[in-house]
Amino acid sequence: MRTIDSLDVKGRRVLVRADLNVPLDGDTITDDGRIRASVPTITALAGRGARVIVCAHLGRPKGKVAPEFSLAPVAARLGELLGRPVKFASDVVGDSARSTAEGLADGEVALLENLRFEPGEESKDDEVRGAFAGELAELAELYVGDGFGAVHRKHASVYDVPKLLPHAAGGLIVAEVEVLKKLTEEPARPYVVVLGGAKVSDKLGVIANLLGKVDRLVIGGGMAYTFLKAQGYEVGNSLLQEDQLDQVRGFIAEADKRGVELVLPVDVLAATGFAEDAEHEAVDATAIPADREGLDIGPKSRELFAGKLADAATVFWNGPMGVIEFDAFSGGTRAVAESLIAADAFSVVGGGDSAAAVRKLGLPEDGFSHISTGGGASLEYLEGKTLPGLAALED
Ligand code: 3PG
Repeated sequence: MRTIDSLDVKGRRVLVRADLNVPLDGDTITDDGRIRASVPTITALAGRGARVIVCAHLGRPKGKVAPEFSLAPVAARLGELLGRPVKFASDVVGDSARSTAEGLADGEVALLENLRFEPGEESKDDEVRGAFAGELAELAELYVGDGFGAVHRKHASVYDVPKLLPHAAGGLIVAEVEVLKKLTEEPARPYVVVLGGAKVSDKLGVIANLLGKVDRLVIGGGMAYTFLKAQGYEVGNSLLQEDQLDQVRGFIAEADKRGVELVLPVDVLAATGFAEDAEHEAVDATAIPADREGLDIGPKSRELFAGKLADAATVFWNGPMGVIEFDAFSGGTRAVAESLIAADAFSVVGGGDSAAAVRKLGLPEDGFSHISTGGGASLEYLEGKTLPGLAALED
């Protein structure tokens, strides 16, 4: 992959695909991690006299203009972080985008409105997507791919535009790929992966691939209940994916065959309902009452998981251990994060919810070797898939 150093950017319009998909509460950005991660590449380009046109998506408006998914608040925050004004185009490839792009002086930065307001961005039809990519490409002379969190999407701004313009990978993508390579090519051992989150169905591919690579697989969060049930235990009202039981039984057998240590919760916080103030108590994972649901891992599991992380040389963690939106059920996730910080390991937090959890819980970001900006993207990379946005930058 070429880096931005290979591009002669002075006085030229550079389209930067960033991932600025941040959580919003109304107009308020509740976690600006992805915006902060995008700043170095934009700063470097602007500092070299580029006319920087940033494009990004927010949420899933599905090809329609939806004001609640406007990138306007993100433009304001990006401007604060860059320490310079960011011009905001009120459309993606229309009059506003064109005049904003044309009006940029050397070193100035603009942000286009949400790419996903345009149906061409996500279209499955190559021609429709290609036509939209053509309009985007006309805004600029060069392309920089830096939206790591979206590289697993075969979308116009990620996959098609780099075919139309001289291109390079931004510093964020270079850094993310370097870390993921370290995890996939000869990781220092023991290599431990901790997976959580609600659904095991979201993680099937990555579990299948990791069973051939890791020494230990630690499972928590909502997905753990399908593993417990697959082992023959009752899980009460806990989250359960009945249709995945056979697949999970297969994983358990495969882990055994390959000598991968599979670590499941030994106790859980069993609550009377899905609520912040639900009455709850720690119970053994083998004895969850029929009228209770597990909303977090319990104290014995926290200790067990900490022990399984203590001697790790490499750790990858994706997915919360419990319902972190509720303070009462965020302790398991905090405990795992703190164990990663304490471990003398190359520790990687795999994007999305887990990265947001680290910040929400007020844990020091520099306690980890790397916090990825891409949840889905890093999982698909570890699954061994070809990521369209990376393939496009390789050419
Ligand atoms: C993410 O949030 O993981 C990325 O921004 C990609 O968003 P998407 O899952 O809506 O494609």
